[in-house]
Amino acid sequence: MYEDFTAHLSHPVFKVIKKYLEDKDYSAFVIGGFVRDLLRENKSKDIDIVVDGDALEFAKDIAQILRVKKVSVFKNFGTAHFRYKDIDVEFVTARKESYSKDSRKPMVKQGTLKDDQYRRDFTINALAIDLGPHSFGTLVDPFNGVSDIKIGLIKTPLDPSETFSDDPLRMLRAIRFASQLDFKIDISCLKSIKEQSERIKIISRERITDEINKILLSPEPSRGFKLLKSTGLLQYIFPELLELSGIETINGKSHKDNFLHTLQVVDNISKSSDHLWLRWAALLHDIAKPATKRFDKKVGWTFHGHEELGSKMVPRIFKSHRLPLDAKMKYVQKLVRLHLRPIALVKGSVTDTAIRRLLNEAGEDIDDLMLLCNADITSKNEFKVKRYQENFKMVSEKLQLVEEKDKIRNFQPPVNGEEIMKTFDIGPCYEVGVIKGKIKEAILEGEISNSYQEAKELMLNIGKELGLKEKETHN
Ligand code: CTP
Repeated sequence: MYEDFTAHLSHPVFKVIKKYLEDKDYSAFVIGGFVRDLLRENKSKDIDIVVDGDALEFAKDIAQILRVKKVSVFKNFGTAHFRYKDIDVEFVTARKESYSKDSRKPMVKQGTLKDDQYRRDFTINALAIDLGPHSFGTLVDPFNGVSDIKIGLIKTPLDPSETFSDDPLRMLRAIRFASQLDFKIDISCLKSIKEQSERIKIISRERITDEINKILLSPEPSRGFKLLKSTGLLQYIFPELLELSGIETINGKSHKDNFLHTLQVVDNISKSSDHLWLRWAALLHDIAKPATKRFDKKVGWTFHGHEELGSKMVPRIFKSHRLPLDAKMKYVQKLVRLHLRPIALVKGSVTDTAIRRLLNEAGEDIDDLMLLCNADITSKNEFKVKRYQENFKMVSEKLQLVEEKDKIRNFQPPVNGEEIMKTFDIGPCYEVGVIKGKIKEAILEGEISNSYQEAKELMLNIGKELGLKEKETHN
């Protein structure tokens, strides 16, 4: 199928390439995600160019014309890359590839555009548009990629077993695209993924995590995770999630399938936030349920302490997925640890003290915690859900009222350690901690207001009780 895409190739990179090719005897095409996204009327953040000549020299020449100084060249892969303004431009020599069985590093041989398109992952990613001066803007679609975009199908140009065996990461990419674009995966592709899912083991953790993050960021992440499970990939890339799966029944009492519940929570949160780490918190909020599961004859199934244990499991999971072990991880840990707290308030009587304590522990992340908690209400019983949501709304309103009144969210006791030491003329010691702790407790308990005056008064009284003497001040 041929169509004219000239109007969509207004980016200076394309214009420069067209001009450059005027006196050359080889061709260049924009290929892959850029063309796919163009046909889906989406903007792409990178441009991939395939050249049926030396892409490295080509990239250097184009960079020079565009006055780009830094070009990264990867000789072994036959690729070069530079950044022009806000867009990444990647150049690759059209290739006939063959891969070694135990690694995804290809042995590259130069080929034609068609050879290159055959070697790409999916028909929707094998679409190319000619950038040469004589056929500028012509679409080259040998595998009906356009029609697959129209019907929403992920399909490989070659026999899927070959495409996936060449690069097992593509099994994950198939699922990621299906989730991201809301496409279906062709039946023979699915079958092939099931057959060779174990080969995912040769792929680096970083690349796998990249795909998991993209699945998590898709509009309905459950689609991707369900496919990961049904194809058998999940057991190799995220066994802790698979553990959540299944229902057990004792004495006629069943617990819910925590895998499906978790995915429902992730989908719920995805309707209200694009925040990757909040979505991670949703994914991991019940991760310790299998480890804490007990059956009690009187109360049935319990998962006591799963929020604490879950929070402790987060660093190990982050480490194994090569996720950042920094403030982002701490944020996820905090949300996992606190995810039951607002709902506990809903169930019990909501005192100002309990609200202040929650505000104090959640700090800046209270709004995200409330989103997570709301997303966690997934009962099948509509009446229950409605009641929970109404109570939940009440807690949200109360949170707002208490926060406005007491300013607890970023709460630092109004009298600090330095002032305590100065007042009683003491150095850093045990008593300073005691006084600070008691002031904080008194504010959280509502015994005094969160004001300097009342905190100072309390400091003097506690000091007295501890036998400390106020330093005399001379005016
Ligand atoms: N590609 C491939 N096999 C892979 C990775 C990439 O065949 N394992 C090809 C596809 O043609 C793809 C192109 O290389 O379109 C560019 O890859 P990449 O930038 O990773 O993906 P995009 O398709 O651009 O999509 P995204 O940016 O969302 O990852």
